[in-house]
Amino acid sequence: MFKPVTIAEGIYSVGCRDWDIRDFHGYSTYEGTSYNAFLVQGEKNILIDTVKSGFGEEMLANISRIMDPKKIDAVISNHTEMDHSGTIPLVMHRIGEDKPLYCSKMGAKNLKSHYKKDYNYQVVGSGETLTLGNRTFTFLETRMLHWPDSMFTYMPDEKILFSSDAFGQHYAGDKFFDDEIGEEIMPHARKYYANILLHFSPRVQALLADVAKMNLDIGMICPDHGIIWRKDPAKIITAYDQWSRQEPAKKALVIFDSMWESTAKMARAITSGIESEEVHVRLMNTRKWHRSDIMTEVLDAGALAVGSPTLNNGIFPVIADVMTYIKGLRPQNKIAAAFGSYGWSGEAVKILNKEFEEMKWDMVSDGVKVLYVPDASDLERCFDLGVTLAKTLKVKLSE
Ligand code: FEO
Repeated sequence: MFKPVTIAEGIYSVGCRDWDIRDFHGYSTYEGTSYNAFLVQGEKNILIDTVKSGFGEEMLANISRIMDPKKIDAVISNHTEMDHSGTIPLVMHRIGEDKPLYCSKMGAKNLKSHYKKDYNYQVVGSGETLTLGNRTFTFLETRMLHWPDSMFTYMPDEKILFSSDAFGQHYAGDKFFDDEIGEEIMPHARKYYANILLHFSPRVQALLADVAKMNLDIGMICPDHGIIWRKDPAKIITAYDQWSRQEPAKKALVIFDSMWESTAKMARAITSGIESEEVHVRLMNTRKWHRSDIMTEVLDAGALAVGSPTLNNGIFPVIADVMTYIKGLRPQNKIAAAFGSYGWSGEAVKILNKEFEEMKWDMVSDGVKVLYVPDASDLERCFDLGVTLAKTLKVKLSE
């Protein structure tokens, strides 16, 4: 049981915290997450979004501490992914299936596909304004941020933006607002952007331009995960602007896996070469780091060295996992180099180069391959590769 949190007069956060979740479809959530839902009370009572399946009774119990859930007059669904729509069937069953369910056109299509129900869908579009009792809602479709159905709901009188997944963070804790948690929330927000939204960065730029054009007065941002931005909503908007520009920092990553320590030795020599040029570097062994933590570091890294031994004419499975994940999120503006030890066929470096090409990353060389175990001169070549990577990055940053 969770005590609803008042976010403005008659407006409450009534969602649930998922303290235990550690894997959110492949994203590591070391501090759990929350599924935020919002109750707007007034002449009409409106529920904005719901929670993941399994948390519905808890959400209804939260609402019961404010009013009888049967008195909800309508539901607004900003996003149909199951962590927010999973309890729509329970809610509709409880409040009456004829009650209006406001959503985007794609939202209606998705909800029908998910729940096989013909609810009283009321499709709303971008810029549309709806008055329900004494409350006004304006909708802004945010297609592919990050699903085709996604939209924002804005309350102009209260200056509150309900932003669905955007501006969220996977965080479950006893803090509910930015001013309560302070800077501690930013690494969560950054990880969330890198792992959920990076792929859609051009759309984030377009959305921020649209929001600026619309001159929305945003006093508070309520995302569907994590804390509410009430003290300084501009802080997360500025961060999104920066992250979505994908400007490289003076920072390099060396990502590797190793069979018998040979590729690991190469990785350490490359790291030393990068360091010698006073470029910030992180060495990340894919056996020790979760793919989503590596992705968070990729967000602003200007240069990447990726190393894999050759196994069965291919790259190592864990490296393949990480590269598939990174590639799907489409990080841009990177320079790269591949490296790896091999025994006879030695395809790994070539395969990694192809991955870089497909991501349109600039390669500084054909990479470094070492037969079996690196000797001193091989490690010197690796050190030099690190130097080249760092120097190329510095030139790029000075242009
Ligand atoms: Fe939090 Fe796209 O769902």
